[in-house]
Amino acid sequence: MRSSFILTSFSALALSFISQSVSAQAPSYTCSEFFVPVNVTAQTVQLNVTAPQDQSELTGILTQLSWVDSTYVQDVTIGPTTLEANYKIWSQLCVPNGFPADGIVEFAIHASAINHTYWTYGNGTGSSYAVAALNAGHAIFMYDQIGEGNSDKPDGIQEVQIGTEIAVAAALIDNLPSLLTYGKIVGVAHAHGSVVMIALIAEKGNIFDATVLTAIAEATAGLSAGLTALNIQIASEAAPELWYDLVQVQQGRGLLSLGILLTLPTNSVAQGYTNPLLVVTGEHDFFMCGGDCHQTQGNFDSLPAAVQGLFPNASSFTVNIVDNTGHFIFMHTSAPDTINSIQAWVGQAL
Ligand SMILES: *[C@@H]1O[C@H](CO)[C@@H](O)[C@H](O)[C@H]1NC(C)=O
Ligand SMILES: *[C@@H]1O[C@H](CO)[C@@H](O)[C@H](O)[C@H]1NC(C)=O
Ligand SMILES: *[C@@H]1O[C@H](CO)[C@@H](O)[C@H](O)[C@H]1NC(C)=O
Ligand SMILES: *[C@@H]1O[C@H](CO)[C@@H](O)[C@H](O)[C@H]1NC(C)=O
Ligand SMILES: *[C@@H]1O[C@H](CO)[C@@H](O)[C@H](O)[C@H]1NC(C)=O
Repeated sequence: MRSSFILTSFSALALSFISQSVSAQAPSYTCSEFFVPVNVTAQTVQLNVTAPQDQSELTGILTQLSWVDSTYVQDVTIGPTTLEANYKIWSQLCVPNGFPADGIVEFAIHASAINHTYWTYGNGTGSSYAVAALNAGHAIFMYDQIGEGNSDKPDGIQEVQIGTEIAVAAALIDNLPSLLTYGKIVGVAHAHGSVVMIALIAEKGNIFDATVLTAIAEATAGLSAGLTALNIQIASEAAPELWYDLVQVQQGRGLLSLGILLTLPTNSVAQGYTNPLLVVTGEHDFFMCGGDCHQTQGNFDSLPAAVQGLFPNASSFTVNIVDNTGHFIFMHTSAPDTINSIQAWVGQAL
């Protein structure tokens, strides 16, 4: 008995060694890139705002937005409306070779002012989230959010809003079975992507079999200070060759549409979600926690732990506050451990 146990584990070791050395030469997965046309009916907000004509007008808006007890959003909100539109969403699907019909696919939503490359950042160094997911045998679907990366960039005030982002994510998930046969789907999101994912789950219930929200807390303690620190500039002025018709850019990083800033939701409670949930936030996340995520909130022993209050019926809730790490958790030296711990959680949650 004993010796056969040892033999089995040796052969298991040998197998994993072989597959690792193969993947070091050529990836044992295939990625494809394409546009997904989506037709959305989105709940948006009619805003009494026109595109800022110059930097001083934009800075004025950002300043008023960051005031303590700012009423700017209420002042410019005319009311709810419905947007019907067709968009082309740049997407990337990576699938491990031999992916089984009952396999796990991860659906990833990136944050504001960045694009899908967040998930492949550090490819080759052990820091890439997408590569870790693929090495765990999962497929991963990534895309550029509306208004960012290579996806369509419609009106940055009336169209690129959180309601549109939610509708686009729902349409992409509906479309996924036409691209890949899979058994289970896991949602994974970062920062503003997590805000979109919470709203999506609040609306749709068990749209994911398990969910991983990163760089998130229950409220955004550092949003005002964070926004003013971003050095937000008008896109068409900061980089006219790239963004001649857009509202603004966070210079050196990516696009951020005014419509998103003006329609951020108060997180809603996702009563209908009854699957497992993992929250992973860096202890020094400035945007979400004002730099200290270990502060208590109500009966919760940290700000990220309070996310549990939004998912009262989740079958399990796990929170991981990553030491000595900030907002872009996959760009810190702690990233390989964090990424592997997320894949391990997904493996045991499903
Ligand atoms: C989206 O709408 C267009 C017409 O606006 C239609 O031609 C197309 O088939 C629709 N696509 C989907 C996926 O429903
Ligand atoms: C929009 O704002 C302007 C002032 O900036 C105001 O005069 C106008 O009545 C507002 N329009 C609506 C529809 O609220
Ligand atoms: C990682 O980099 C390799 C080599 O450039 C490339 O073939 C592969 O597609 C990349 N993986 C992802 C997930 O982007
Ligand atoms: C995506 O983001 C990366 C990193 O911020 C940037 O270098 C790249 O230009 C962006 N791509 C597009 C199409 O915006
Ligand atoms: C979710 O929990 C609430 C109490 O927080 C309860 O009223 C509701 O019935 C539950 N819903 C489901 C689908 O279990």
